[in-house]
Parts: sequence; structure tokens; C-alpha cells
Amino acid sequence: MGRAGLEKDPHQVADMFDDVAPAYDKANFFISFGQDRRWRRHSVRALQLTPGQKVLDVAAGTGVSTQAIAKTGAWAVAADFSLGMLKAGARRGLPRVAADAMRLPFADASFDAVTISFGLRNVQDPEVALAEFARVTRPGGQLLVCEVSRPRFALFRWGHRVHLRHVLPFLAKRFSSNPEAYTYLGESTEAWMDQRTLARAIADNGWSAVAWRSLTFGVVAMHHAIRTEPAPDSAQAAAQARNGVVPNLSAAQEASFDTP
Ligand SMILES: C[S@@+](CC[C@H](N)C(=O)[O-])C[C@H]1O[C@@H](n2cnc3c(N)ncnc32)[C@H](O)[C@@H]1O
Repeated sequence: MGRAGLEKDPHQVADMFDDVAPAYDKANFFISFGQDRRWRRHSVRALQLTPGQKVLDVAAGTGVSTQAIAKTGAWAVAADFSLGMLKAGARRGLPRVAADAMRLPFADASFDAVTISFGLRNVQDPEVALAEFARVTRPGGQLLVCEVSRPRFALFRWGHRVHLRHVLPFLAKRFSSNPEAYTYLGESTEAWMDQRTLARAIADNGWSAVAWRSLTFGVVAMHHAIRTEPAPDSAQAAAQARNGVVPNLSAAQEASFDTP
């Protein structure tokens, strides 16, 4: 039984998820206090998909996130590099592909939307992955990232940190077959980008109209964006980011997209 480190070595990450795969869905529900269903509902609604649209769900794991998308009538394919996770999700009967988020086996502009939930944080180079998502999305198509984030209020941030550092490892030691994986969960959550930083990374890698919405006081955030058309001038975007200016993004854009 192993765990990944913060360098996110792809072999270690895949091995770790292989280990937790059989119990993943239940553990997820337990760790999130049942909130994961609500977060998924919001993510799917934010996309406003129409039946028949093609959606790639990257880092789909057991396909719990893909299933929520498929329920809309869209055609959703689950991609993940942990064969254990894909196997654990076989019973869902969804199309599944073994694939690395940083090197997707799809042609340019193949999808109407790309989604990734609780996966981007585990990818070795999230910016490479975001650019790869842009490559496989048609111009005008959508991106939805649902990921852990930074709680907005100081007291809540403190409580969240105590939960990640002490409560979660304690519970994992008692109830999980791979407690170390939950230590990684806490560490990778604390080291992850806040809402604004992730928005900037998205805007720098082929996406425009980036907006985000915090859920559960910012424990989780959904980021939505549109595939830039034409291809972005990355040098200009990088210069703007260095100066603290994010194209198409302002503080006012938090919560600017809503779920019907
Ligand atoms: C926490 S699970 C999320 C599963 C699912 N999306 C959900 O919402 O429950 C993270 C998943 O990301 C996958 N993953 C991490 N890095 C990846 C990469 N570079 N390429 C493909 N999958 C990756 C892991 O194998 C794991 O299944």
C-alpha cells in the first residue's frame, strides 16, 4: 500500500488510486459528508449540456462523475490512468478509456466539453493538462473543473486545516485499507491553488471567459471556461498573468455563473 508525494509522480498516483479503487465511491461519500453528490449536481448543471453532446470526463476514476454527466443525455466518456479505478467502475457500463490527462489519445476539437472533478490536483503538471483539454475541445466548447479549494472565511479555513491534518488521518487509520492515501489527500489539498490562481492557470492555457463559484464555503470550487477562439497568444497571456491581470476575469466573476 502506498501513497503519492507532492511531486505527483504519475506511477505513484496511479498505484495509490489502484489501491483505494474498490472502496473509492463509499470513502468519497464518507469523507465529503455526503456533499460530493451536491457538488457533482452543480458541476453538471453549470455545463447546461444538450443530449448528444460529446463530453470527456478526465480523471474520471470509477466513473461516478461521468455517470452524473451521462444522465443529461450527453455522450460521456470516462478517461483515467488508474486501471484499478476504471475496473472498479465497470459496473456503470460507461465508455472508458485508459489515458493520461497530459497526453490525451483524442484528435483536436473532438469534444463539446471537457470536465475534471477532483482530478486536476493530482496531475503532475496541471497547466500541461489544461492546454491538452483545450486541444481536444472544439472552439467555443466548455471546460468545467471541480476541485478542492480555499475556504473563504479565516475561521472556516482553520477548521478545515484541522480536519485535513488531524481528523482525516485519524479516521483513515481506523477505517481505511490505505490510510496513507488520506494523508496525501490532506497534503495535496493544502498545497493546491486557490480559486483565483486556478482561474489564472486556466486563462493562460487556451480558455477564456473564466469564472468560478465556491461551494460549501470554498472547500470546493467549480471553474467554468470557454475554449478560446482563435488560439490564445500565450506570450501575451503569460505577461498579463505576471502583471496580475487575468484576461476575461475579474473578482466580480466569482459566482457569475449559476446553476439552474
Ligand atoms: C479523486 S479521484 C476523482 C475521480 C472522479 N472524477 C470523482 O469525481 O470522484 C482522482 C482520479 O484522478 C486520476 N488521475 C490523476 N492523475 C491523472 C492523470 N495524469 N491522468 C489521468 N488520470 C489521472 C486518478 O487515477 C484518480 O482516479
